[in-house]
Amino acid sequence: GITRHYKFNIQMQNVTRLCQTKSIVTVNGQFPGPRIIAREGDRLLIKVVNHVQYNVTLHWHGIRQLRSGWADGPAYVTQCPIQTGKSYVYNFTITGQRGTLFWHAHISWLRATLYGPIVILPKRHASYPFPQPFKEVPIIFGEWWKADTETIINQALATGGAPNISDAFTINGLPGPSYNCSAKETFKLKVKPGKTYLLRLINAALNDELFFRIANHTLTVVEADAVYVKPFKTDIVLITPGQTTNVLVKAKSKSPNAKFAMSARPYATGPATFDNTTTIGILEYHDKKPASNNKLPLLKAKLPFFNDSNYAMKFNLKLHRLNTAKFPSKLPQKIDRRFFFTVGLGILPCSQNQTCQGPNNTRPAAGVNNVSFVQPNIALLQAHFFNRSKGVYTTNFPANPPFKFNYTGNPPKNIFLDSGTKVVALPFNTSVELVLQDTSILGAESHPLHLHGFNFFVLAQGVGNFDPKKDPAKFNLVDPAERNTVGVPAGGWVAIRFLADNPGVWFMHCHLEVHTSWGLKMAWVVNDGKGPKQKLPPPPADLPKC
Ligand code: C2O
Repeated sequence: GITRHYKFNIQMQNVTRLCQTKSIVTVNGQFPGPRIIAREGDRLLIKVVNHVQYNVTLHWHGIRQLRSGWADGPAYVTQCPIQTGKSYVYNFTITGQRGTLFWHAHISWLRATLYGPIVILPKRHASYPFPQPFKEVPIIFGEWWKADTETIINQALATGGAPNISDAFTINGLPGPSYNCSAKETFKLKVKPGKTYLLRLINAALNDELFFRIANHTLTVVEADAVYVKPFKTDIVLITPGQTTNVLVKAKSKSPNAKFAMSARPYATGPATFDNTTTIGILEYHDKKPASNNKLPLLKAKLPFFNDSNYAMKFNLKLHRLNTAKFPSKLPQKIDRRFFFTVGLGILPCSQNQTCQGPNNTRPAAGVNNVSFVQPNIALLQAHFFNRSKGVYTTNFPANPPFKFNYTGNPPKNIFLDSGTKVVALPFNTSVELVLQDTSILGAESHPLHLHGFNFFVLAQGVGNFDPKKDPAKFNLVDPAERNTVGVPAGGWVAIRFLADNPGVWFMHCHLEVHTSWGLKMAWVVNDGKGPKQKLPPPPADLPKC
């Protein structure tokens, strides 16, 4: 591979959407941010210079960061933030991955406007395992607030209330014609009849899983989270925040100058209110001859009902890894450690510096195995590397929930969570099997769980309580999907496996930003192995200080 250099200036930029202008945090003044293009095997040097009043970090979502954990990016996990006027060079090599990923800010709610695609092409002279498309187009879904998102989340955390929901969803930064005062800001994809396009779908929205459809067109899914899958056809794609999905679409309409809606709207299962609007882009046919009839109607795309969890489950079950001699699966067959984690909402007592508006001086919170994660004041990775974990984190994260109950039926009487900065420590190369179980303490809800530093294999999923006696029989040990983000079904479970072959500290959290803010996160510490290629190198000299 080669080395590619990028310079990312974090700077403010005025942007107008829905007839309102606000100043947002951007990279190089662009919204959405610049596209990173590389080939598998390339090294990236991305110099990030912070010119804004906020502390910033960037995360390269889904990049494995093999022995380059210092470049991963989550604030106070692998690094201290880049302060105003400071810079940091993210330095990493793309190993064994090709497809679509994305980058985003990983501190507070800055990723509302700080995000952009990462396109990883196959190695030079290597081809796709599917026909070469005519064109490749990133389609990045986002979420837009008229108000300033940092103000919204800071107020919410200070008052213990829920943050305001967004005002629009966007396709490549544009809300489209279904919103008031937005028709001019519509994403248009111009296509030629007969050609096939590769759409690189990315869900960068903060708080909503999305259904996506193009009217009258079938999508062929070929890749998910930068791993090739066995191609399958579908009308609708479900994509959670943190997931990426590559689809082929053939422009097969015979009518020149036809227009088809590309629509996305939420798949939402939780008890809270959500932004139930639809963003629309337009697939426009452009024939050689100029349009004789420019007034063709826009054909609408019908999407499933917002809480159609049957559809969601059926879609997810269609994903299978492409296991060929060229792309063999590394699914761990022998398991060293088994974990059972519940994920869900609960409440916490208000702290002194809060003016809580929840009942009886409480606030909404979320946790894993009843532990709501407390962000430390220095980065976990530094504490780990320099053997200074004392007072920063403890390694007693529970392998199982503290009490058993019917997770999907009656909630327990005690809905209080525990809080702390707890991690699981693993020896190098431990193979892990983990069952993630949604709880219904404050209502069942699908949680897109994202793991940093690894891909995991999705063995099975189901509704209700996981049954350790019966459900392992359903595990797919042949061609399970390999990804970095999976939706834990609402009121259900998902079983995953990964090999802890990457020394460092790796965050795992719900990619719904409101749940991350409430504490639905934890970390794995993977210790060094004995071999020279099994150790985390020391931090780069410019690693930000707290
Ligand atoms: Cu895309 Cu920890 O996040």
